[in-house]
Amino acid sequence: MDKSWHNGEWCRSMRIRLDYTNMMSSRIDMHHGVTDDDITYLEEMGRKAHKDLWERHESGDLGFMSLHNQADELQDIKGAAARLQKRFDNYVVIGIGGSALGNIALNSALNPPYYNELSKDERKEGLKVYFPDNVDPELLRGLLNVIDLTKTVFNVITKSGSTAETLANFLIIREELKKAVGDEYHRHIIVTTDPHKGFLRKLATKEDFRSFSVPENVGGRFSVLSPVGLLSAAVTNVDVDELLAGAAEMHERCSGPDIRSNPALMAAALQYLLYQKMKNIVVMMPYAQALKDIADWFRQLWAESLGKKSDRSGKIVYEGSTPVNALGATDQHSQIQLYIEGPFDKSVIFLTVEKFRENVNIPAAGFQDEDALGYLEGSSLEKLIQTEQYATEWALTKNNRPNCKIIIPEVNAYTIGQLLYMLELQTAYAGELFNVNAFDQPGVEDGKKATYALMGRDGYGSLKQELLTGMDTSSKYIID
Ligand code: PA5
Repeated sequence: MDKSWHNGEWCRSMRIRLDYTNMMSSRIDMHHGVTDDDITYLEEMGRKAHKDLWERHESGDLGFMSLHNQADELQDIKGAAARLQKRFDNYVVIGIGGSALGNIALNSALNPPYYNELSKDERKEGLKVYFPDNVDPELLRGLLNVIDLTKTVFNVITKSGSTAETLANFLIIREELKKAVGDEYHRHIIVTTDPHKGFLRKLATKEDFRSFSVPENVGGRFSVLSPVGLLSAAVTNVDVDELLAGAAEMHERCSGPDIRSNPALMAAALQYLLYQKMKNIVVMMPYAQALKDIADWFRQLWAESLGKKSDRSGKIVYEGSTPVNALGATDQHSQIQLYIEGPFDKSVIFLTVEKFRENVNIPAAGFQDEDALGYLEGSSLEKLIQTEQYATEWALTKNNRPNCKIIIPEVNAYTIGQLLYMLELQTAYAGELFNVNAFDQPGVEDGKKATYALMGRDGYGSLKQELLTGMDTSSKYIID
């Protein structure tokens, strides 16, 4: 296997970079931009945020910061992936939220578009992958209609082991597997859950499912680099060593408290400063189709981690900036008008790629004298998408809209490992700066409990009563 990432020069050339020039008041109006003084003012707070976070990491509290060091688990995952490739054609993730979005992001970033359409040879024996992360009956039935269950393995991923959506889908596929393969059904199910707690852990032992553990100190939305994301990546031949090497490189780069040389800390500080300037929407806009689902993954990470009613002392604060996804160049024809001329409530994070993995030239087709076509002839799609990114950046800046870019030399496992880990750390630092607990999700838990109650789970009777009273269907505010 090509291990070019071991080469120091290659690693240096693959370092992702944060360019925040267009967030600064030297580029945009000082009402909307950040000044050097603002950053200097925040240095002390940044140092404290860094110290507190890294102390928690060193005490073993924040497992996501150690995931780049899991040599034994990695061997296990690679071994399992190789065995699964021999036995199955399809790999289905049954999970939702943090137990699915990272898998989806890794697959779209690191496998070719339309990956499942490729032949087995073209996939180099990699399994086809599916992520039905919803309980829409049409979605699950649709999947069951197109896959051969005798050739399919399901990975049921749930940290808590009790999420209604995941368990419902699990019960359905368990039943369908029993019909399709009889007593062998348990060989088609893998469980990825808490190492000790939860219903699914118990069931894994009882029904003899192969299992993986989500480390106790790693929360769902911070789990992409744990077995949660790594196994589905490995079954498609993503280089998981390289992925974790990228995360390790970013860990190292962010190990110092100096805000000006720690990209994750700076990115968090900028969002904190912009929030004080009423920028309460953060748009992540990749200019690369492969990174579209990373923006989706980040949307959950940022929203669930920072959208909080109370701060860490219990004071009511209703904190949080709203993450929004957009995709360049597609959303230039959908969202950009609003970003450039609408309210001054947004900042934009571009994800830009310096070198695409494919080069598609626009042919010279004899239209050089045609105004609408001539300028495109002989150019390339890479040049066009990069130019469009620059043009959007320019238009935003000219209109005093703060924007920055994370520059990715090329999309590969090493750069994606850096990017995912940087965004996780950025979110954790932002939690420190906003003084909210970035690692809980009481709002989500409320929704989960309400679902249990309405679906008749034992122990939720009084909540059900409360909910049914609150949902009076004879409301006069319904038009029919
Ligand atoms: O980040 C989180 O904790 C949540 O988004 C969870 O991932 C999501 O609710 C699914 O939970 P679980 O993995 O316990 O099924």
